[in-house]
This record gives sequence, structure tokens and C-alpha cells, in this order.
Amino acid sequence: MIKIGVLGAGHLGKIHIREIKNIPEFELIGFYDPNPDTAAFAEKEYNVPSFDSIESLLNEVDAIDIVTPTLSHYECAKKAIEAGKHFFVEKPLTNTVVEAEELVNLVNASNLKAQVGHVERFNPAFIEAQKFNLHPMFIEGHRLAEFKPRGTDVSVVLDLMIHDIDIILSIVDSPVALISASGLPVISDNIDIANARIEFENGCVANLTASRVSLKTERKLRIFQKNAYITIDFFKKELNVFQMREMEEDEDITDKMVIDPGEGKTKKEIIYNAPQPGNVNAIHRELECFADAILNDKTPPVSIEDGYKSLKLAHAILDKMEALMLKSSLH
Ligand SMILES: NC(=O)c1ccc[n+]([C@@H]2O[C@H](COP(=O)([O-])OP(=O)(O)OC[C@H]3O[C@@H](n4cnc5c(N)ncnc54)[C@H](O)[C@@H]3O)[C@@H](O)[C@H]2O)c1
Repeated sequence: MIKIGVLGAGHLGKIHIREIKNIPEFELIGFYDPNPDTAAFAEKEYNVPSFDSIESLLNEVDAIDIVTPTLSHYECAKKAIEAGKHFFVEKPLTNTVVEAEELVNLVNASNLKAQVGHVERFNPAFIEAQKFNLHPMFIEGHRLAEFKPRGTDVSVVLDLMIHDIDIILSIVDSPVALISASGLPVISDNIDIANARIEFENGCVANLTASRVSLKTERKLRIFQKNAYITIDFFKKELNVFQMREMEEDEDITDKMVIDPGEGKTKKEIIYNAPQPGNVNAIHRELECFADAILNDKTPPVSIEDGYKSLKLAHAILDKMEALMLKSSLH
């Protein structure tokens, strides 16, 4: 049994408290939140002790779950490492690349397990999609949300686009070759809407759009690859797969979706599939995996290196946006 504490009992922290209570490998020792109203509410609602400091909680646990605002991830994770505690930290790993680099080095020099909360990896639609031998050549991503002040302490790239950045890095096995990007603040002081075109050395291109000033919610990735088109709806947890196969010359085409390219070329059949993703609670599953990594000495499925790579690419995208904004302000 792993003794665990939670840092931050805000919007997501409450959900983590609830899920941890339902994972038998964890014993939830308590939580710390500096906001007295939030702490009092969570203590009563979830019947979990509230601690009066990070340090007092760290003293009592084997592992800590960091669900605090992004700007505090580095400080909380560093305290966990110094106290010799495993940690789960929400995405993005940290605010800056320098902070992330330091944490990666500290974790690698220890025996501690560190997992980053890129929860879309556990989304049942994405899990199901991976059964279709993904080797994307073009990816179109849209992650749109209505405006909420929560999360605006960082740009939409670190807040929302980073989910898709992590997913893309997990399925495109090639270094990034070129980035172009643009974005702008709309309501908050940080970039609220952003578009990035990421070109990989193997020729794959990902075109990502993220907005937190949208009138609708959408979280979709469309993947195009040789002989297949796959759409993953992370919000609705739905998957649509269109595969194409060459037909035999005398094959019966009745009830089949057939494309005739003309000029005597081989006909192709389009095969449509809408697999039903399992009913998985992604947050529950990622926390179970964190427990499994600690108990069975495994690398967590979303490692600190994964979190670092996503953050580094997110910042490279932001640098391109800032360069473009600077250029346009000079004209
Ligand atoms: N994986 C996802 O899909 C997802 C979704 C939402 C938020 N997040 C991430 O989760 C984190 C928290 O987001 P949220 O929406 O719950 O924010 P929130 O503002 O609702 O809650 C944050 C809580 O942390 C507390 N806090 C601040 N500093 C602290 C500290 N040093 N120690 C302990 N508690 C502290 C605050 O008082 C607040 O109650 C952010 O990093 C965000 O990016 C991830």
C-alpha cells in the first residue's frame, strides 16, 4: 500500500482525491491547499484530513500528487524530490524548460518514480485508435474550449495544445524538423488562441489549433496515413476509422463503398469502422498506472522525459509565435 497525499484541492485536485480513494493500492493520508475555504470544503466533502503545509504532508507519505497551478509545479516537485517522495504532477510538467530540465536530472539521479498528467494517453478513444497501427503522415488537431479564467496563468499552448503535442510525440517516431506558429491574446494577458504547424523529419506534418475563447467545445485529432483516415474525438470518446484496400479484379462490389480511380487502375474499397472504446475513467487509470510504476519498479507510462519533451516543443512553438508578434509590431 502506498501512502499518498494530494497538493491542491481545486477543480482537478478534488477529482484526484475522489479517484485516489477508489484505488486500493493507495492510502490517502491527506491533502494540502493554502486556500482555507477550498481546504475546509474538501476536508468535509471527501472526509480526508487537511494538512497545514506541504512539508507536514510530505513527512507522512511515500508519494505526492501535485494538482496545483502550473506556476507552482516546479517548486512542489522539487520539494517532493528533496524529501525522497515519488510524485505525479499535472500537465504541463513545469512552466519553463529550464525548470523541467532540472527536475528530469534530479529524478534520473534518484530511485524515484515521476509521472506527468498527460491524461489523454488514457482516453479510451486514443487507446482504441492505437490498435490501428498508427503511422501518421498528416495530423489535423482542434482543441477548443469556452473561456474560463482557470488556467490563464499560462498560454493556451501550455494549457490546452500541450495535450495534443504529447499525443503527437507519442505516435510520430521522428525528430521535429520545422515549426511555424502564430497566436494571440484575446481575453487574458496570455496567448488564448494558437495555431502551429509542426513538420517532422520523416515528412509527417501536424497542424494544431488550440483556443480557449471558442463558442464550442471540441477535442479532435484527424490522422491521415497510407490507406487510412482515423478521427479521434477525445471529448465524446469516439473513434471513426476509414481504411482502404485494393480490390481483386473480378470482386463483387455489391454493398461495398468502392472508388474507381479510372484509367484501368485497380479499384479500391473503403472499409468504415466505428469501434466502441471501453468505458475507462482516464484519470483513475493514469493514477492506477502511477501506483503500478511505484509498486513494480516500472517506468511510468507518461514519464518525466515525456513531459519534458512536450514542454520543450510547446516552448519552441511559443518562441515562433513571439517572434512573429514582434515582427508584426515592427510594421
Ligand atoms: N490533465 C488535464 O486534463 C487537466 C485539466 C485541468 C487542469 N489541469 C492541470 O491541473 C493543475 C490544476 O488545475 P485546476 O484547474 O485544478 O486549478 P484550480 O485553480 O482549480 O486549483 C488549484 C488549487 O491549488 C491550490 N494551490 C495553489 N498553490 C498551491 C500549493 N503551493 N500547494 C498546494 N495547493 C496549492 C489552489 O489554492 C487551488 O485550490 C494545473 O496545472 C492544470 O494545468 C490538467
